Amino acid sequence: MTDGLRNLDPSLHHAWHPLCRSDDVDGTPRAFTLLGVSYVTYRTSSGGLRVYRNQCPHRLAPLSLGTLASDQLRCVYHGWLFDTDGVCVEIPALGEDAMIPSRARLSSPAGTFESHGIVFVAPLEPKTPRPCISAALDADFERGDLPVIETRASAGLLADNFLDMAHFPFIHARTFGAGEAREVPSYRVTRDGLCFEATYEHQFANREDEGVEQGIRPLLQRRRLTYRYTAPFHLELAIEFLDAGGTNVIGFFITPVDDEHVRIYSSLWRNDLEGSIERMNDAVAFEVAVVNEDLFLQSRYEDLALPLDITSELHTRADKTTLELRRILRDFVTSV
Ligand code: FES
Ligand SMILES: [Fe+2]
Repeated sequence: MTDGLRNLDPSLHHAWHPLCRSDDVDGTPRAFTLLGVSYVTYRTSSGGLRVYRNQCPHRLAPLSLGTLASDQLRCVYHGWLFDTDGVCVEIPALGEDAMIPSRARLSSPAGTFESHGIVFVAPLEPKTPRPCISAALDADFERGDLPVIETRASAGLLADNFLDMAHFPFIHARTFGAGEAREVPSYRVTRDGLCFEATYEHQFANREDEGVEQGIRPLLQRRRLTYRYTAPFHLELAIEFLDAGGTNVIGFFITPVDDEHVRIYSSLWRNDLEGSIERMNDAVAFEVAVVNEDLFLQSRYEDLALPLDITSELHTRADKTTLELRRILRDFVTSV
C-alpha cells in the first residue's frame, strides 16, 4: 500500500462535493452517501432544498424513511416531528405540552448549494472554491446528463484519469482514440489557487463535419481543448471546433462515497445541436462508452489511492496536468 489520497481522507470534509442531482430532490425524503456519511435530502413546498445528516437525534433512525407533510419531517420510529429549520416541534411520547430538549434538532452540513444541475455539500467549513461551469450559464448551450455511475474507484485516480492526455490511443481505441495522435502537443498549465487551466490547439480529422463532404472545409481542422480543474474532484473539458464552429463541454464531478466507491455525475453542454434530442442522446451514449473504457481500468486498481508524493512516480512533459493535480491536492491536504 502506498501513501496517498484515499476517498475517506479527513481533509475532504473541508471541500465541496456533489451529493446528488438537483432533479433527485423533491417532496420525498431520500438518502445519499458522501464520505461514508448518509444525508437525507428533500424540498419544501416552495422548492427550498434541505440536507441533513440522515440520523434522528433520538435513536439515530434513518430520517429518509420518515414522511414529509406540510414541510415538516416526521421520523418513522417514534414520530418526532421536525420543522423546516430542522428543529423538533413535537415528541408524541411526551404529550402536548412537553418541553422539547434544545438538542432535539437535525444536524446540517456546513454548506449546501446547487449549480449546473447538481446539489453540492461541504460537510465542514469548505476550503475549496465552488465549482462552476460557464457553459451552464449560457443560454446557447443545451445540457445532456449521463446516467449516474456508482463504481469501485478512487476519486483521486479518476480525476487523474480525466486530466490525462496520453491514454487516448490506448484505453479509448474503440471510441475516439483510434483517430488521436499518440504524441501529446506541448501545453502550459496555469494555476490559480486550488484550480488550474490547461489549453492547447491541434489538428484532427473532423469526420462528423458535413462541410467536409460539401467541399466547404478540409478534413484536417483545428480544435482547441481547455481543461479546467477545481479541487478536489471537479473537472471540465471544453472542445472548441475552430473551423467548423461549435463547442462541446464535458463536466465530470466525482463523489467519494466510501473508501472503495465513487459516484460520477457527468453532463455534456453543446451549442451545436440545434435542439436535436436524437443528436444529444447519441452524444451522451458515446460519452458513456468513453467513460466505461476508463472505468475498465480505474475500477481494477488494487490500491485505491492517488500518490501525492511526486517523487514516487515518473512524470514526463506530457503529464503536466496530472502533476499539477497532485501538487494542488497535496497543498490542500496539508493546509486543512
Ligand atoms: S429515532 Fe426518531 S423519533 Fe425516535
Ligand atoms: Fe479517458
